[in-house]
Amino acid sequence: MDRIRIQGGARLNGAIPISGAKNAALPLMIASLLTSQTLTLENVPRLADVRLLLRILGNHGVDHMIAGKRPGELPTSGQTLKLEARNIVDTLAPYELVSRMRASFWVLAPLLARMGQAKVSLPGGCAIGTRPVDLLLQALESLGAKIDIEAGYVIASAPKGLVGGQIVFPKVTVGGTHVALMAASLARGSTVIHNAAREPEIVDLADCLTKMGARIQGAGGSTIEIEGVASLGGATHTVLPDRIETGTYAMAVAMTGGDVFLQGARPELLQSALDVLSRTGAQISSDAMGIRVRRNGGEIQPVDVMTDPFPGFPTDLQAQFMALMTRADGVTRITETIFENRFMHVQELARFGAKIHLEHDTAVVTGVRSLMGAPVMATDLRASVSLVIAALAAQGETIVHRVYHLDRGFEQLEQKLRDCGAEVERISGGD
Ligand code: UD1
Repeated sequence: MDRIRIQGGARLNGAIPISGAKNAALPLMIASLLTSQTLTLENVPRLADVRLLLRILGNHGVDHMIAGKRPGELPTSGQTLKLEARNIVDTLAPYELVSRMRASFWVLAPLLARMGQAKVSLPGGCAIGTRPVDLLLQALESLGAKIDIEAGYVIASAPKGLVGGQIVFPKVTVGGTHVALMAASLARGSTVIHNAAREPEIVDLADCLTKMGARIQGAGGSTIEIEGVASLGGATHTVLPDRIETGTYAMAVAMTGGDVFLQGARPELLQSALDVLSRTGAQISSDAMGIRVRRNGGEIQPVDVMTDPFPGFPTDLQAQFMALMTRADGVTRITETIFENRFMHVQELARFGAKIHLEHDTAVVTGVRSLMGAPVMATDLRASVSLVIAALAAQGETIVHRVYHLDRGFEQLEQKLRDCGAEVERISGGD
């Protein structure tokens, strides 16, 4: 298993190109199952999760083509994927594949909507507390699906097709909203999704489905209305920039000091996180080309944070922000409201000398003068990148083990950091 070695202490200076959003690319790829025509996705990040999803989709009969290099293309340019599900040859998504990536469970919706049946293994994915799928299944039941669970598999059927209905989510769920959007687009009649997730990735999926011929109103708000259509067609869509990658590098700069331009980043996708970063003392500015983050000397100010669904502070930036607060000039309270048990990074951050204790869903972080490099272990996607951030600011050397977690969600992490002056290298193989 690969490791990453980081020699801490360097300030970050330069430019980092922001990749297409993983959390938008995955549902967009899954939407290819809804049509027999070609869905072309541009700016798709080169990530392990994308490659795995291509395998899963291939198993259902989706052909894919990855466009070759184009003139002027940089290694960091996103890739163009053409996906074509002319015939769905298999409506079974097996445990071996779904257990490796939670989002692949969402294939249930388009398979059911287009084929009237699907059998999909209950999911796996990041170990961040119990992550049930009850709300996703209830959404499909609201559209007339019959759902059974047998031996770890969800068996869904709607022999006469899905019918529009009222979907009321008791809590905001991104996956539930994606599933509801895809299923309702091909259901007979109209559907209203109440308490829908408002994340930018939901809007991206709705935009793409609309290009494919779906009739969707209100995406980005809490109530979404969908008028089902008999079939969907092909489309070309560009994946929006990754707000979590953007916030991660912004926090790294706020931690190490320096001056970095995040190319292609869009501030409106992570305004709450940028506001918090400004209050810590970082200087943030933006233009049509991206976001500039600077911090030149001065203490890092503590800022209390509570995670919330969009437009609140994202849970996917909680670990990175905690890394930053380990060096703050005072005490910070960080409350996680989305996922229980999303504090696995706390113990690893402590290995750098961070002072953190947990009070139920709140981490109380007492800033220290300096962190010391240490061997640490990545536990999940976002937790692992928080260790990288801490390592960049720590004195001495850090080895991050189990970096396959990082490869799932961060494209060319080492290269992007090295280009800004960080001492980062990957060590192949070993434990
Ligand atoms: C997505 C993101 C993930 C992010 C999360 C919250 C992708 C691929 N993943 O995950 O990075 O951290 O949104 O922003 O886009 N819940 C239920 N029952 C369900 C579904 C969800 O109780 O059927 C709960 C979850 O346990 C959690 C909350 O609802 O407490 C929100 O989860 P959800 O928004 O569904 O997360 P994901 O879509 O899995």
